[in-house]
Amino acid sequence: MQTEKPVHDPEGSAIMFGWFLLAIVVVVLFWLASSRLHLTPSELTEIAILGAIGLFVVVDVATYFRRRAARLAALWPPPPFRIAFGDEAKELGLAQDVDSVLVGHESDGQPFYWNNETRVQQTIASGMTGAGKTTLIESILQQDICRGVPIIFIDGKGEKKVLDRILPIVEAAGRMDGFRLIEIGRAHV
Ligand SMILES: Nc1ncnc2c1ncn2[C@@H]1O[C@H](COP(=O)(O)OP(=O)(O)OP(=O)(O)O)[C@@H](O)[C@H]1O
Ligand SMILES: [Mg+2]
Repeated sequence: MQTEKPVHDPEGSAIMFGWFLLAIVVVVLFWLASSRLHLTPSELTEIAILGAIGLFVVVDVATYFRRRAARLAALWPPPPFRIAFGDEAKELGLAQDVDSVLVGHESDGQPFYWNNETRVQQTIASGMTGAGKTTLIESILQQDICRGVPIIFIDGKGEKKVLDRILPIVEAAGRMDGFRLIEIGRAHV
């Protein structure tokens, strides 16, 4: 029969040692309070109760923050998170510096990049309607426009709002001279 090996838990041992030290400190403080400050037993009791409540609150709050990251990581589906504009601007700048595009963010908020070597292996974005395919492609397209790479974008749906969002970026990137819009069925446009 196999017996389970006792698991060494350094964190648990450190916490136990901390409580032990705290107990010694409390005993010394109480001894000082009664022998040197001459506090009465009722005053000592009051201080002990208030101290215990304060300690409980501090430990509880500290435990909440200590376990927060693990608790969030275990949640499924992951809760929505916010990326500050400034942080995203930095990530976009970094992507451009290393010839990559920022595709999105992992569930823990870490940026997810694609470099050119990965891009040439082809990609298909699939998902039910409203999943964010067009938004993803637009984001990549916008970054490619700013990077100055040649682009052919075929929009099967022909959504005008996509064009409305892309055109100002083409203009801001100073690439209007190279911009051509071909509408199937009205190829002369
Ligand atoms: N990453 C995202 N975070 C928040 N909202 C998003 C995200 N991606 C897309 N959306 C929003 O979801 C909605 C649908 O997005 P989008 O049009 O890109 O979906 P789609 O997959 O292309 O849909 P369809 O198949 O109908 O064309 C839009 O309002 C868009 O702003
Ligand atoms: Mg779409």
